[in-house]
Amino acid sequence: MIRPILLVSNYFFLFLKHNKILSSYIYTRTHAFIFIINLVSAMVDIHGYFILLLISFISILLFRFRSYHTSSRCKSRLPPTPFSLPIIGHLHLLAPIPHQALHRLSTKYGPIFRFFLGSVPCVAVSSPEMAKEFLRTHETSFLDRPRNTTTVYLTYGSKDFMFAPYGSYWKLMKKLIMSELLNSRTLDLLLPVRKDEINRFMNMVSQKAKLGMPVDLKGELFKLTNNVISRMMVSGRYSEEENEDVDMKKLVTEISEISGRFNLADYVWFCKNLDLQGFGKRLKEIHPLYDKLIERIICEHEEERRKRKDKEEVKDLLDILLNVSEDNSMEMKVSRENIKAFILNLFVAGSDSSALTIEWGLAELINHPRVMKKAIEEIDRVIGKSRCLEESDISNLPYLQAIVKETLRLHPAAPIIPRTSTEDCIVGGYHIPSKTTVFVNVWALGRDPQYWDDPLEFCPERFEGGHVDVRGQHFQMLPFGSGRRMCPGMSLGMQLAQVALGVMVQCFEWKAGQEGELTRVDMEEGPGITLPRANPLVCVPVARLHL
Ligand code: HEM
Repeated sequence: MIRPILLVSNYFFLFLKHNKILSSYIYTRTHAFIFIINLVSAMVDIHGYFILLLISFISILLFRFRSYHTSSRCKSRLPPTPFSLPIIGHLHLLAPIPHQALHRLSTKYGPIFRFFLGSVPCVAVSSPEMAKEFLRTHETSFLDRPRNTTTVYLTYGSKDFMFAPYGSYWKLMKKLIMSELLNSRTLDLLLPVRKDEINRFMNMVSQKAKLGMPVDLKGELFKLTNNVISRMMVSGRYSEEENEDVDMKKLVTEISEISGRFNLADYVWFCKNLDLQGFGKRLKEIHPLYDKLIERIICEHEEERRKRKDKEEVKDLLDILLNVSEDNSMEMKVSRENIKAFILNLFVAGSDSSALTIEWGLAELINHPRVMKKAIEEIDRVIGKSRCLEESDISNLPYLQAIVKETLRLHPAAPIIPRTSTEDCIVGGYHIPSKTTVFVNVWALGRDPQYWDDPLEFCPERFEGGHVDVRGQHFQMLPFGSGRRMCPGMSLGMQLAQVALGVMVQCFEWKAGQEGELTRVDMEEGPGITLPRANPLVCVPVARLHL
């Protein structure tokens, strides 16, 4: 009796094994099921066995039906996703410039779509409504940043502020930044530093103008912003040709370039130790250079502090940090590595972003003579021709302010805001699992045709009336991010960009090209964590005012 039954069940098993239509899924489960049936069949009679067989069929069908429905329901809750390749996921779709590629994909897959960097699940966010959902409505689930090999290595094993998880250390440092380091009182106190650096920059341009020589604006603006930040932080200038120790410009440019590239070691498991792109080698060269520089600076500060009578006297931001690190009453210890990593954060986050904003702004003005003329008219009207524009004039120059906003709309120095989900949540009706990397595409928000008329047109007039600002409240315009993790250097960045751009167009005419031969400049973007120009701006300055 048992034999024919065993035969039937084994035939069924073989049929499943060879039938390609049935999924391997059914196959594995059926395999286990038939095995049990074979066993049981040895013990029960033919009627019982047929019942078991029937139950097995029904349960397989029910299981299949249920799992089909559950999985389709789950799938429908996840954001849409483009076709991916095995192992690399969607990495191949993001080259050469990720924010542009994500924007292109969003026109096909919508304002929120899912993709994989190798095996790492990510979500791209490209509309102001969705950005608001992630950064305001569900802010608490997205307060961490994704970490990668590069940032971990450069920040002494994640000892920094920018990539620190949202927790007690981040809160302590944030409090310090807002109450001591970058608040309006400290910025006012350090106004002479900014003024002096702007004067040095203008003197350099004057010399070039007298000689009819071109200015490499990318390099020179970087020196300006980097020297402002380094003087505010550590009372030293580290972006000078004559400084033989470390080329700060090269250091920061390299760091921001490597940090902006997708490192295969982070996303493809078998590339973890291969260093196929040579990033590991570059990091091992860069990091000791920075460490040597910052160690020297800290030692000099410590030496001075020992000699100083008034221990509490504060000269710069590093002094404040050293005070905090020596303060045993602090709820958390701020270590030497924390300080080094934090200062690196400010060097990288502050110098490049502000310099690039000024460079893009001048490039737009060169390509839009009407806007340039209107800006100069405003400056001449408000300030006259007998003195240079200063920070205190900015509030009386709304058109200049609008030019900087329009520059940040089209060329946000940080084109993508990276965050990570710390818990499962539903955003915009979609299920976003915990540990998903979220990329808010600020570059795409500023070009959304639903929010901006002629979005690709450079038109500062759109900001007249001041209805939209950059403070993270208007989600179509997030150059400094939004919420608790938004940029703490916003005021400093805006001050630097407005003053530098204003004084540059007030005092000089800018003729584009090595020989001043171009009437237009290209607006191509290059790769990086910030938004560099593909071809750095070079201009010959001609003095407008002789002050
Ligand atoms: C035009 C200039 C600048 C732009 C466009 C800019 C943009 C940004 C953006 C988009 C973020 C991410 C915000 C978010 O996640 O919501 C950020 C973060 C940050 N920025 Fe800026 N930034 C600029 C200047 C500066 C300056 C001058 C400093 C300091 C000297 C600075 C320090 C930082 C730091 C420390 C963070 C990390 C904040 C955190 O993770 O909590 N930035 N910046």
